Amino acid sequence: MSAHQQTAASPFIRACRREPVPHTPVWFMRQAGRSLPEYLKVREGIPMLESCTRPELIAEITMQPVRRHGVDAAIYFSDIVVPLKAIGLDLDIKPGVGPVVADPIRTRADLDRLRPLEPDDVPYVTEAVGLLTGQLGATPLIGFAGAPFTLASYLVEGGPSRNHERTKAMMYGEPELWRDLLDRLADITITFLKVQIEAGASAVQLFDSWVGALAPADYRTHVMPASAKVFDAVAGYGVPRIHFGVGTGELLGLMGEAGADVVGVDWRVPLDEAARRVGPGKALQGNLDPSVLFAPTAAVEAKADEVLAAAAASGTGHIFNLGHGVLPTTDPDTLTRLVDYVHGA
Ligand code: CP3
Repeated sequence: MSAHQQTAASPFIRACRREPVPHTPVWFMRQAGRSLPEYLKVREGIPMLESCTRPELIAEITMQPVRRHGVDAAIYFSDIVVPLKAIGLDLDIKPGVGPVVADPIRTRADLDRLRPLEPDDVPYVTEAVGLLTGQLGATPLIGFAGAPFTLASYLVEGGPSRNHERTKAMMYGEPELWRDLLDRLADITITFLKVQIEAGASAVQLFDSWVGALAPADYRTHVMPASAKVFDAVAGYGVPRIHFGVGTGELLGLMGEAGADVVGVDWRVPLDEAARRVGPGKALQGNLDPSVLFAPTAAVEAKADEVLAAAAASGTGHIFNLGHGVLPTTDPDTLTRLVDYVHGA
């Protein structure tokens, strides 16, 4: 039986398809990583991007939160900049900072450095996903990639950015260069997702973390075509496609329209209101504020109840998650208790 068949009856996949579930499935963005002592231990002395090229290590880190918390899905351990590194861009992930690009992409000549990604550039992905689907059995593996806008922001700014000013300067000032940049990034993202799906990933999530910086009209004109191209290109596999961004309250309808089966929502919009904005035919993922996990247990559970009640009122499929990634100093026991609480609710 293929990995896709083996996971089809799982609560996570059923919720993505808006089918009835025995309990609300739950996983956490950034569930693998610095909140876990066992992660820090296996990563000791290995730079982040190097760890993303070692299949056994990738499989171990991906499995850690599944074993510890009993979450309903694993997310493949990697980073959104891994495919960019794989085509030869000089970039690194600086601890406490994020991705840093030595030579930012700012001119048409710079585009030449963004060559297409070939499956052979990332053999470790195929190998690691193969190891993982064997270990996970009926638990789905979520593959992921960065969306064209969020990748472009890192490449154009040269690193993390609060205001994305150089990115927007290109978008508004050189719309054709911007379009070609996003199109190249869409193609790289498509190959990266296809490699993961063909190796056995049961669902994919497109992270457009920083797209909430845009107004709807600019999203529609300058970003949506490239993201829609990505969703279109993987539609034929039939695996659920999740679309996530932060601060996207005003973009939720368009992000659904771009082609996702599931729209990820941050904590700023209750899920019943999100369902109205997204429209019918899509499941929702979210949306507990990750900072809530620093409050006492009773408060965490009260806030989880609010999420579950809004999800029930939305009338659509729901995958419980945080509204953004697990913060590094989160107590892992809080996450384990929350999984049990959501499963028992
Ligand atoms: O558990 C998982 O979710 C899977 C692993 C994962 C990582 N990055 C590992 C990682 C995923 C899904 C990502 C996606 C990612 N990477 C996003 C989109 C999700 C989001 O949070 O919005 C973005 C914007 C990035 C870029 C990036 N990489 C940032 C901002 C950082 C944090 C820098 C820091 O140290 O504060 C990274 C590094 C990174 N990616 C770490 C991990 C576990 C930490 C590095 C380390 O442990 O040394």
